[in-house]
Amino acid sequence: MAPFRTCSAIPKWSAPIPARAWEAPEMNSATASVPVEPRWSDMPGLLACEDLVAGYTGDIDILRGLSVKAWPGRISCVVGPNGTGKSTLLKSLFGFLRPSAGRVLLGTRDITGSPPFRMLGLGVAYLPQRPSLFPHLSVEANLKLGLWHARPRKQVLAERLDSAYQRFPVIREKRSQPAGQLSGGQQRQVEIARSLLADPSVYLIDEPTAGVDPQTSETIYDIVQGLARDLSKAVLLVDQDIRAALAITDYVYVVKNGTVFSEGERDDFGTDTDALVARWLYASGE
Ligand SMILES: Nc1ncnc2c1ncn2[C@@H]1O[C@H](COP(=O)(O)OP(=O)(O)OP(=O)(O)O)[C@@H](O)[C@H]1O
Ligand SMILES: [Mg+2]
Repeated sequence: MAPFRTCSAIPKWSAPIPARAWEAPEMNSATASVPVEPRWSDMPGLLACEDLVAGYTGDIDILRGLSVKAWPGRISCVVGPNGTGKSTLLKSLFGFLRPSAGRVLLGTRDITGSPPFRMLGLGVAYLPQRPSLFPHLSVEANLKLGLWHARPRKQVLAERLDSAYQRFPVIREKRSQPAGQLSGGQQRQVEIARSLLADPSVYLIDEPTAGVDPQTSETIYDIVQGLARDLSKAVLLVDQDIRAALAITDYVYVVKNGTVFSEGERDDFGTDTDALVARWLYASGE
């Protein structure tokens, strides 16, 4: 079993945590002579950032050299304590914040600092942590905004709307209602349907089930999973619901103080979710 990687810049544990799959290779002499096979996570991501530094004011960096990747057909999950910079990461990737150092790559193309409308055109979708629908506009008007930047022909728009309604029948029923009248979970589905109109290849998703009841959360996680598994989207998911997110994720980044504290393929843990939760708690200082 491959080790869970730990950022070398971070000092080794100062408090004991249970020895499990994440132990560093040098701690396990049995694996010392085994040749290391290439892993899917060693491949370049479709979207990647390298050593990103960003913040809201010139004097305080929130992201301090943060690197993550998102691969087609896979879900990368960023977990970590409150205020550690998870949402700031997505805002920086999508162009709401301009990084002061580091770079953002889409394939081999350097897109660092591209503004949000350009990111949409490049095939990157962003679902923010806070609701992003216009509450007084109808559901359908909100959906159409998903393609405003492309100025599509009427027929194309009608086809895309129809396929969104097929995927989300609940939304078809509510198409004429003001979006603000829908439940939190339904609004999340409208946001995802809206993003699908532009057929992006990368999704940046921030806490998709915040404030949503457990049953609807399940539906939303199914939808997020479907984006990767059925539609081959590269998904970078930020989540507080660590257990639910880990159930669908392929690669985990634990972030602390604006940098990656540890990372690794989800499969390395098998069913040992407790190990990942322990790692997250350790990063949280709990
Ligand atoms: N618009 C802003 N202006 C100034 N500082 C901000 C702004 N938004 C966030 N911050 C600060 O940046 C830091 C990181 O915030 P961020 O929202 O990225 O954290 P987070 O990891 O997403 O937290 P949570 O889990 O609570 O969503 C925090 O200290 C926060 O106060
Ligand atoms: Mg956040």
